Amino acid sequence: MTGGTTAIIGTGGLGSAIARRLASGGEHLRLSSADAGSAGALAAGLGGAAVVAADNLDALRGAGAVVLALRFTVLNSVIEQIAEPLAGLVVVVPSNPVSTDADGNIVNLLPPGQSSGQVVAGWLPPGARLAMAFGTLPAGVLESAGNRSPEPAVLFYAAAGDRAGEEAERLIRTAGFEPAKIGGIEQSGRLEVGGDLHGLVVGPAAAAALISDGG
Ligand SMILES: NC(=O)c1ccc[n+]([C@@H]2O[C@H](COP(=O)([O-])OP(=O)(O)OC[C@H]3O[C@@H](n4cnc5c(N)ncnc54)[C@H](OP(=O)(O)O)[C@@H]3O)[C@@H](O)[C@H]2O)c1
Repeated sequence: MTGGTTAIIGTGGLGSAIARRLASGGEHLRLSSADAGSAGALAAGLGGAAVVAADNLDALRGAGAVVLALRFTVLNSVIEQIAEPLAGLVVVVPSNPVSTDADGNIVNLLPPGQSSGQVVAGWLPPGARLAMAFGTLPAGVLESAGNRSPEPAVLFYAAAGDRAGEEAERLIRTAGFEPAKIGGIEQSGRLEVGGDLHGLVVGPAAAAALISDGG
């Protein structure tokens, strides 16, 4: 398969797993992280499939889409930093709006009823096309469930418009999964920690039933 070029900003636990899955499907990657260390180590393990960009803006050069594999708390500042070129791109966000408190408990960063997709859409510049995807499974499960056979595993996604949806589907297939659209960005709460579609590894028929049951 001949892939396109995708930027991945954030090469921690999840960004690394997404990068390895996409690279295994033939995607060319441009990587950046807070310091060059983790992006460099990841690129070294991916051979010719990935290059380390000079910075977050440089990561976008020549890319058709960018995956912002960042903690929810830093998303807005990175979006502001790269806003101008984002206007022409598909922006894929896997971030869950959660953090951990001093005791290690998971805390929600958004009030009940407000989805991460709606908040992120408000941070993006006009012309950027948002898809919420790749954040429903733990990184290790994402890596192990790709290219499953005989029945592929599904990755659920939500997208604002056709172009975002088409690119999300291409990336999900490249990563070795079957895409399942749940609806527009306003539906993205279903994908998050605590949502009914979060953490599920299911095939296409079960996914279709779950989408219509909970929609
Ligand atoms: N980990 C999972 O299993 C998992 C599963 C589903 C969804 N998610 C979601 O994925 C997101 C990322 O989680 P994670 O576990 O991968 O977090 P993580 O391991 O802490 O990785 C965060 C990455 O963001 C980079 N970063 C921080 N500030 C940056 C900046 N200003 N510019 C560029 N890169 C920056 C860090 O760079 P350095 O490497 O240089 O520090 C690091 O590579 C979260 O929102 C989480 O909710 C995670």
